Amino acid sequence: MQKFTIIGGNRLSGEMFLQGSKNSALPIMAAAMLTDGQCVLKNCPALTDVYSASRILNCLGCKCHFSSNCAVIDASGADRGEIPENLMREMRSSIMFMGAILGRIGECIVSVPGGCELGPRPIDMHLAALSRMGAEIFDCGGRIRCRIPSERAKGARISLSFPSVGATENIILCAVKAEGETIIHNAAREPEICDLCGFLRACGANIKGDGESSIIINGVTRLNGCEYTIMPDRIAGATYLAMTAAAGGEIILKNTCTAEMEPFISVLEHTGCGIYTSDNKIYLRRGQRLKAVRDRIRTMPHPGFPTDAQAILMAALVTADGTSVFEENIFDCRYRHTDALIKMGADIQVMGKAAVVRGVPKLHGADVEATDLRGGAAMAVAALAADGVTHLGGISHIDRGYEKFEEAVVSLGGNIRRE
Ligand code: EPZ
Repeated sequence: MQKFTIIGGNRLSGEMFLQGSKNSALPIMAAAMLTDGQCVLKNCPALTDVYSASRILNCLGCKCHFSSNCAVIDASGADRGEIPENLMREMRSSIMFMGAILGRIGECIVSVPGGCELGPRPIDMHLAALSRMGAEIFDCGGRIRCRIPSERAKGARISLSFPSVGATENIILCAVKAEGETIIHNAAREPEICDLCGFLRACGANIKGDGESSIIINGVTRLNGCEYTIMPDRIAGATYLAMTAAAGGEIILKNTCTAEMEPFISVLEHTGCGIYTSDNKIYLRRGQRLKAVRDRIRTMPHPGFPTDAQAILMAALVTADGTSVFEENIFDCRYRHTDALIKMGADIQVMGKAAVVRGVPKLHGADVEATDLRGGAAMAVAALAADGVTHLGGISHIDRGYEKFEEAVVSLGGNIRRE
């Protein structure tokens, strides 16, 4: 098992080209299965989750090649609808292939997906929506078999009880080639949904309203291949900003998505960091000690503060001057990183949805273990700002979402080694 050895205390400084978005690339790779012709996805991040998506595509009869941040997918041979359980378990986004397979060949066999353990992550909304679109769903010895009895799925009006990102994406994937109109009410508004729709429109899909609460999709019979550039990763961007804020120093992030990162940046500004943004660049400078954030930091669906950035910002605020309070509203169990931060000297009290963070002057290194992707990244952020050596295990979680993490940190002057 690999681990990171991190020696904290270096100020960070440098420029960085932000990686492509994991949470865009994965549903877009699933969407490529719906096309006839070749899709070329540029700015695709080199991550273990992307390699898993590539393996799923190949197993479904597509040809997917990945090199130099470019995925080339030819779905003309896509003729299989079963995803083996081991591939389903590798990541949460494996469930996104359900909508795509139904749109392409009308029948799939999948199982409950894997992914970060953040509390219960049911797929009831995905299944209920697909069933409204005409899918018949069976429990098949612990696996899920789903089939569209007619030639195409049927458009439907679907109201989500919560704006689930994954359910919204699955409905879009099933609806783009369905018969008639699908309207999703209370749809997720995350930028990655817009990126998925941007890709599908480039392939010939008819979708309106993405980025708003109601998305309208009129099914088409055919989608062509296209060349598309995946949007930058707003959560990786938030991580490198928080890291510099925690350790001190300055960073220029290039190829960012400034508007999409606004919900994070507007909170980070309260810590006293100097932050300047232009079209696709973000400059951050931290001189003095960070200030605590006075207002409660509530995670909410976009455009609220992103749950994926909660642990990362907390890792910076544990050494801020004053008390910050977080409220996690998306997942039941997303404070698993706090034990490690406490072991490093942080003062955090978790009470249900809330976490009260009283800033301490300094953290110290410790032996800690990542248990999920963003929690692991948060431990690395804390370790870079701490005194002494941290051994961080469980880094396969970090590799799922951060491209060449240690190279990026070293390029900023951080002391980190993979062993
Ligand atoms: C996506 O997960 C992201 N993953 C997550 O990022 C992110 O944290 C999350 O959206 C929220 O922004 C990908 O895009 C691959 P949801 P997803 O469906 O789609 C409940 C990261 O760190 N729910 O919006 O799984 C669910 O339990 C990852 O990169 C149901 O109850 O999130 C949760 O409480 C981690 N039934 C809430 O909705 C359902 O059928 C939000 O989940 C579906 C969801």
